[in-house]
Amino acid sequence: MKKPEIIKTASRMQAVSQKARRSGKRIAFVPTMGYLHQGHLALVKKARRYGNIIVASIFVNPAQFGPDEDLNRYPRDFEGDRKKLASVGVDYIFYPSPAEIYPPGYQTYIEVENLSKGLCGDFRPGHFRGVATVVAKLFNIVQPDFAVFGEKDFQQLKVIERMVKDLNFPVKIIGHKTVREKDGLAMSSRNSYLSPGERKAAASLSRALFAAQAIVRSGERSPQILIDKARELIRDGSDARIDYIEVRSADTLEPVVEIDRPCQMLLAVRQGRTRLIDNIRLNLKNSNRG
Ligand code: PAJ
Repeated sequence: MKKPEIIKTASRMQAVSQKARRSGKRIAFVPTMGYLHQGHLALVKKARRYGNIIVASIFVNPAQFGPDEDLNRYPRDFEGDRKKLASVGVDYIFYPSPAEIYPPGYQTYIEVENLSKGLCGDFRPGHFRGVATVVAKLFNIVQPDFAVFGEKDFQQLKVIERMVKDLNFPVKIIGHKTVREKDGLAMSSRNSYLSPGERKAAASLSRALFAAQAIVRSGERSPQILIDKARELIRDGSDARIDYIEVRSADTLEPVVEIDRPCQMLLAVRQGRTRLIDNIRLNLKNSNRG
């Protein structure tokens, strides 16, 4: 059999999943917007530890892009993605059209209220509503036992975890640590937008996060001191515009006045026309999470 099979309709995907589940198979799912890199493929490899049927989806979801965002220029390369997914043992690629997911008359949306506010939620109104809605639909279509999401999109991971809990989706959410380039830049499909100069400057984001992590490990407990240091490192040697740099409780994403529990530093920075996000765990004790 030629793998992976490409499925374009929700009804066929549901039929395949139902048959697999009836025969006792466990389905592990990795949703993506395509233009895949090693970060996405690492998620698929992790999914293989949980499922014996692996489904990846490729869908650039219009509902999570604002009117002035990059929906129309979002990079796409289905043939390249197909080959990459074949190389890591995906069984099915769910590759629907926008009309398959949002047919005429579509009007149902999911709001994960508090977790969608603040951080990226403030800069991308409606973004997490679009993410939660498409992921809920994908879960109903693919019917996975497990779904793997990257910590790179930390707020997204929290929104999905909350939605699954609140709406009783029978899916176990698995997180995967952020996969980085050699210089520390978090891999992202959007990195392809960067000019060589911007790409070089973009390494300052992870440098700032790792510096903050080191400062916490040396005993600092003040979020503001870490944020000031990170701002300084990101301003240095680039014309980056910082949307936000914040320290939040890693569990709930609530603001913290002191680093007295596991925290996450999260940031969003625009390099030219490209918006980059990254985050890191700030632990009181030594840890390599990030
Ligand atoms: P996309 O940006 O394509 O990312 C798909 C998945 O890959 C997400 O879970 C994301 O967190 C993860 N990912 C991306 N870059 C990563 C990296 N460097 N290391 C680890 N994981 C990484 O996120 C989306 O698509 C969409 O919002 C989606 C969930 C598919 C809903 O449309």
